[in-house]
Amino acid sequence: MKIKEYISADTIKKRVEALAKLISKDYKGKEIYLICVLKGASVFAVELALNIEENVIFEFIEISSYSSTESTGIINLNKDISSSIEGKDVLIVEDIIDSGRTLSYLKDYLLSRKPNSLKICTLISKSARRVTDVSVDYVGFEIEDKFIVGYGLDYNEDYRNLSYIGVIE
Ligand code: IMP
Ligand code: MG
Repeated sequence: MKIKEYISADTIKKRVEALAKLISKDYKGKEIYLICVLKGASVFAVELALNIEENVIFEFIEISSYSSTESTGIINLNKDISSSIEGKDVLIVEDIIDSGRTLSYLKDYLLSRKPNSLKICTLISKSARRVTDVSVDYVGFEIEDKFIVGYGLDYNEDYRNLSYIGVIE
């Protein structure tokens, strides 16, 4: 399959640095419990954290949603976080928000663990596709309805290690 570049590696780098700067400012003097949503957000979360000036605690969670059950939005928790987030300042880091179902589930799930605060940062948002009303605090890129790969995002597990974001042609 041929991949056409959609967002260059340099554009991503600059945007990630800008987001990290904003986050550093908003969380000044605080410790951030960064919850990386596997597998897609892995690349973004690491680069973001490397550019944040406050101390970052890494946590990983893995969830999967099944397209065959899209109408009900049944979501599976494959791997849970390994420490308590009670009273902590939590930042969920996602690769992409499409319908918003995954994030909506995740947000409720993590709020039940009583963090002091909970914010959401996503590299990509496809607002036009949203079916649930979920507010996002930091957005890297707002894109139209396209299926993209690279920089952590996959197509059947392929293309995650592309340094840029592309569209399959
Ligand atoms: P949502 O629950 O519909 O918001 O789905 C979010 C999940 O769908 C993401 O975490 C991705 O795994 C997947 N996804 C949605 N759009 C794309 C895309 O354009 N490329 C790759 N994965 C996508
Ligand atoms: Mg994902």
